[in-house]
Amino acid sequence: MGYGDQLIIRSYDAQNDRARVEDLERRCEVGPSERVFLFTDTLGDPICRIRNSPIYKMLVAEVDKKLVGVIQGSIKLVTVHKPTKELARVGYILGLRVAPLYRRQGIGSNLVTKLEEWFIANDVDYSYMATEKDNEASYKLFVDKLNYVMFRTPAILVNPVSHRMSHLSSNFELAKLKIDEAESLYRTFMSSTEFFPNDIGNILRNKLSLGTWVAYPKGETWGYKGNNNNNSMPSNWAMVSVWNSGEVFKLRLGNAPLSCLMYTKSSRVIEKLLPCFKLPAMPNFYHPFGFYFIYGVYREGPSSGKMVRTLCRFVHNMASKAKDCCKVIVTEVGGSDTLRLHIPHWKLLSCPEDLWCIKGLKNEERNSLHELTKTPQTRALFVDPREV
Ligand SMILES: CC(C)(COP(=O)(O)OP(=O)(O)OC[C@H]1O[C@@H](n2cnc3c(N)ncnc32)[C@H](O)[C@@H]1OP(=O)(O)O)[C@@H](O)C(=O)NCCC(=O)NCCS
Repeated sequence: MGYGDQLIIRSYDAQNDRARVEDLERRCEVGPSERVFLFTDTLGDPICRIRNSPIYKMLVAEVDKKLVGVIQGSIKLVTVHKPTKELARVGYILGLRVAPLYRRQGIGSNLVTKLEEWFIANDVDYSYMATEKDNEASYKLFVDKLNYVMFRTPAILVNPVSHRMSHLSSNFELAKLKIDEAESLYRTFMSSTEFFPNDIGNILRNKLSLGTWVAYPKGETWGYKGNNNNNSMPSNWAMVSVWNSGEVFKLRLGNAPLSCLMYTKSSRVIEKLLPCFKLPAMPNFYHPFGFYFIYGVYREGPSSGKMVRTLCRFVHNMASKAKDCCKVIVTEVGGSDTLRLHIPHWKLLSCPEDLWCIKGLKNEERNSLHELTKTPQTRALFVDPREV
């Protein structure tokens, strides 16, 4: 049974819809209800998550003038690995929510189909989305009903921010890059990375991007002079960039089991009483909190893993000193990418397999989709901070 003509799908209108979309977001937990879930507080601007993308749209679904569903999408040009093409226009789907009492009536699928129509009108080659592996409703809707195929399973790595500073190795030099230099470095070394955004400069110049840092061995010089000159790069080096997601939205834990609550309390007590006992305290996740997202992680040289670790610790210390209540550092890396071995994270808070699903929207892309899905998972993946 569906709502037929009663169902209206239209563009989001900030003036009339803002409060109702925020209310819907509050009423929709994402994922299975028996598990811990995170609420997103968009700080009065429900469209904030896509606002930084080159082209974006938010649609709402109404039944009898009640706002019962919402979806967001953004479009950009990225690197793909296909013999005939190296760049593709991709549409990212996020924030799909249907009010609990209106589910299983086709509203979710209608919202996705309407967004796909907007993608097609904007010459998009592929649409894709990310979901938790155990979100059965979302998986069945996209894969079983709307013909999306599983594409990648990146790991979301989460590290809590402690007020205790992390030790930084004195063997490495750390330096902040100018934006132009960072852009040139990314284009030289990462532009063949899967899903590398063609508008990387816009990301690096965005006010949410806190900067790009490199690490290299002490005693060596940072010899990068731009991609047209002769560069004498250090023997080993690594780079990361940092995005302040907490500036646009906050998270809050919604359904924590008692064990999690107990751990939060006991670890704080232990940390206070026994600072020499090096247990990092779990921050209080029951109040809204922000996070830093580490993106564009790259390394070269056999011992560069240690430099990635040092850079992550440096970002931890930056977050620890920040006044904006940043309680976790988040990174997302390709499924089998060995980078994850060097990025500090807590298993308890991390998600080992996020599920990315993709669909070709043009005939040619539909026919060659298997070429994209069969590329090995060991290949690096660029996770755009605007899509977190
Ligand atoms: C996921 C969600 C948007 C689905 O919305 P919906 O309006 O109920 O979806 P539809 O009615 O269009 O369902 C289409 C198909 O999806 C599958 N599906 C939807 N909900 C399901 C559920 N709870 N369990 C199993 N399959 C489900 C079914 O195959 C369904 O077809 P059917 O009803 O003919 O069997 C909704 O459950 C929701 O808002 N969940 C919370 C937020 C969330 O998890 N969003 C997804 C983030 S990516």
